[in-house]
Formats: sequence, structure tokens, C-alpha cells
Amino acid sequence: MPRKFRQAYWDEPLLKELGRPGRLGMLAPSDPKVLRRFNDPSSLVPASMRRTSLALPELSELQVLRHFNRLSQMNFSVELGMYPLGSCTMKYNPKVSEMIAGSDGMKHAHPLQPPETVQGLLSILYELERSLSEIAGMSRFSLSTAAGAQGEFAGVLMIRKYLGQHGGADRDEILVPDSAHGTNPASAAMAGFKVVKVPSDATGQVRASSVKELASEKTAGMMFTVPNTLGLFESEVVEVCDAVHRAGGLMYYDGANMNALLGKVRPGDMGFDIVHLNLHKTFATPHGGGGPGAGPVGVTRKLAKYLPVPVVSSKKGKYFLDYGLKDSIGPLKGFVGNSAILLRAYVYIRLLGSAGLSNVSSLAVLAANYLWKSLDPEAFPVSHAKDLRRKHEAVVSVSGDLPGGAMTVAKAILDYGMHAPTVYFPLIVSEALMIEPTESEPLEMLDEYAEAMNTIYASMKAGALGPVPKNTSVGKVDEVKASHPMTLRVHW
Ligand SMILES: Cc1ncc(COP(=O)(O)O)c(C=O)c1O
Repeated sequence: MPRKFRQAYWDEPLLKELGRPGRLGMLAPSDPKVLRRFNDPSSLVPASMRRTSLALPELSELQVLRHFNRLSQMNFSVELGMYPLGSCTMKYNPKVSEMIAGSDGMKHAHPLQPPETVQGLLSILYELERSLSEIAGMSRFSLSTAAGAQGEFAGVLMIRKYLGQHGGADRDEILVPDSAHGTNPASAAMAGFKVVKVPSDATGQVRASSVKELASEKTAGMMFTVPNTLGLFESEVVEVCDAVHRAGGLMYYDGANMNALLGKVRPGDMGFDIVHLNLHKTFATPHGGGGPGAGPVGVTRKLAKYLPVPVVSSKKGKYFLDYGLKDSIGPLKGFVGNSAILLRAYVYIRLLGSAGLSNVSSLAVLAANYLWKSLDPEAFPVSHAKDLRRKHEAVVSVSGDLPGGAMTVAKAILDYGMHAPTVYFPLIVSEALMIEPTESEPLEMLDEYAEAMNTIYASMKAGALGPVPKNTSVGKVDEVKASHPMTLRVHW
């Protein structure tokens, strides 16, 4: 196919060039008056409402179909190729959940409907809340928060309110490890706390001794991610929780990495007081383009009355959205949150059951270690704890001083029809690639991914890679311009 025509499917000016006056993408109506309007599509919008003429291309149905199909192929998803974006847990979202979430009952439910007309949905949300509490070892969850970050924010607000009522109003510090995700310090700061950085040791873990040194009468709590962002289980987690509790603070569990621990160990049993779970990571709900997600937040019994409202409650066998928590931090999101996402998580949990969920974590951990060990260790060394097994993900560096480093590897792998790992995170690893294959990938895909990574590195080292990516519909974007378009003005 000539390039001009291939490109035309996504290039608007060329698409217009392909148009021919009078060409139609539909059966023409026989009434000449109506036909005139179809021949001049811009006449469909009254002239008074138009600033410029519409100049729509006149194309056949097939041409339009090709255009939109082509556009859909310019996107990438786990349904097209491997997507090992570390920390994001881009696992396969089962189609049965989509079908149920798209059912008529769900589509037509309205949050202002009288509760007696949505008892089915409310009972599901109630059961989901019970399941999450069981999985995390918490007493109660609020489902409404829309992402992990919002769960964190709810968590630190609850810490502030609880301490305010228990003689700790002047505690204004939250401890956050240096390996933490950026949302942790951001949430703490947004809730008005000072962030105290806890250094990881040479193995990439937080030591209880460092926490003891930093914890004081100013400590309100600590936000802790287990396994941490290096994919390592924090071996002193119980002692760390103990140290913060002894200092009078509360422990917040960042559950973004819970995919490693389902059915193995529960945050509540490790000593945490508050937990968020990213349903879009662990419970196979769509991430969406920045949302809608769901990051329910759970707490132990003593904190239950502080949860964001509404929670789903049951009285005499009837379910309802309960806004009556005495000391709630208030609502953070409309109604019960993203109910269709919550429903998908419920389906996933019910589909797998407890044995299935535990198996998810076993397979996710096995896949991560297998992939990590299949990478050339000279090309992709690890900065921390070479001899320790990883949990759900592994973080490697790109060896040597090769131009482009981690970013070049990430762009080059796109040419293989596979997504890049997360780059440059966590910040404590230079030229970091954070790889999380999840339990969804078959063995052959893991082999293919490792082989591609090793081949890319060999080409980079030989100076033979050239500009990448070559085969994607959009080439390498200017990342600086993408987020900060520069508008220069001269002021005299
Ligand atoms: C460790 C960790 N904590 C928190 C978050 C924030 O979660 P969300 O993106 O759902 O707001 C992420 C997201 O990637 C994460 O990886």
C-alpha cells in the first residue's frame, strides 16, 4: 500500500485529501432536500453556531471504518502484548467482569435511587467490603476512594483526626522511606504533616533501628510499602510497626504491592492500622486513562468511626449507604465511589476464591523472579540485595554509561510489540527499570521479553541500535515538551 494511503488512516490532512466531493459513507436518502444536506455535512450544524466551516472529509464507509480501526490499533494494552509496568500491576482484566459490569441492572443503576431498589448492588458492595477486610486483616473498609493516592490521603486524615482526639494533636511528622512512591510524601504533606525521610539500608530495606532513631513524640505515623518498591519483602516490618506504635504513632500500609501477598500474609497481622488497596492493580479492574479507579481504605476497629463516608452498612437484612459514622473525616468522593469498578473487583474475588487469590500471588512472584533471572546480569545488574528473592517485581539498572540508558531500553522494547517497564523509579536506583510481569503472562512471553531486553542491550553496547522506537505509530515524543510546553515571552 502506498505510504500516503497508509498514513492517511491517522493523518487528518491526508485523510481530507482522500475525500472526494459527493462520496458518502451511507446509503443516500432519496429525498433531494435531505440529500443536499448530506452532501454538505456542515449544513447539519446551523451557521449561527459555527465559527468556521466544518470542512469534513467526504469518505466512504470503508474508509471511515479503516480510519477508526487504525486509530484503535495505535493504542497499547495488555490485550495486545506484555505490559510489565512495575508497581502498576497491569494484569489481565477478565472479560466476564466486563460483561457483568455492563449488564443492564448495573448500567441503569443511579446513586440517588431508593436503597430498596438497589439491594442487589448494595449487597455486593457489602460483601466486597467484608472480603477486603478479611484479605487485609482489617475491621472495616470504605470503598469510595478513587485511587491509591486518595486512599492514602484518607488514611493520613484519619491519623490526624484520631490523634487529635487522643492527645496527639501536636504530632506533626509522618515517616516515609526513601524507596516510597511519590504519592506517600505528597499525601502526608497535603494533610499538613512534615515528611521525615527514612533511609533504606544497603539491602534496600528499612531497618527498625533507623525508625527507632527517627520516631519521637512528634511522630504521627509512618507510611510503609510492603513488599517495597524494589520488590523486596521488608524483613523487619513487625519490628518497624512496633517501633512506631511505641512512639505513639499509627502505621499506614501502602497496599499497591498487595499482588505479592494475597492469601500469604495480612497487613493487619503485621501490625498495620490503616491500609489502602488499589483494586485496579491487585483485583484486576481497569486502570483507565488515569481513572476511574478504586483505592478502598481499611482500618482496624479503633479507627472504624473515622472512615470516609459513606460506608455500606446492613440493618435487619437491608443494605444502605451509611453516612452516619460519628467521627468520619467526611466524604472524599461522590456516593460510594466507582461502583462498576468495585463490582469488577467483587467478581474477580468470587471467581478465584481464597485458594485462587493465593495462587495469583504465587504465580506473580514466580513470574517476576523467573524474568529477573532470565535477564543478562552483566547488562541489567541489581543495585540492592542481589541474593534475595524478589516478590512481585524486580528493579534492575542499565549497566555502563550507555547513551540514553534506561529510557533507550524502554523505547526500544516498544518495537517488539511489548510495553516498557517503569523507568527511573524508585529514585534510589540509578537508570532503574522496574519490571512486573504479573501472573497473567505465560512462560513463553517471559522468555520472549527477556530475550528482547538482552538483545537490545547487546545492540546498544555495540552502538548498533539507532533511533528507537522505529515501529510505533508515534515516534519518540519530546518528554519535556509533552509536559511543559514552553511559552517564551519577552518582558521589557
Ligand atoms: C507503591 C505505590 N503507592 C501508591 C501508588 C498510588 O496509587 P494510585 O496510582 O492508585 O493513586 C502507586 C501507584 O503506582 C504505587 O506504585
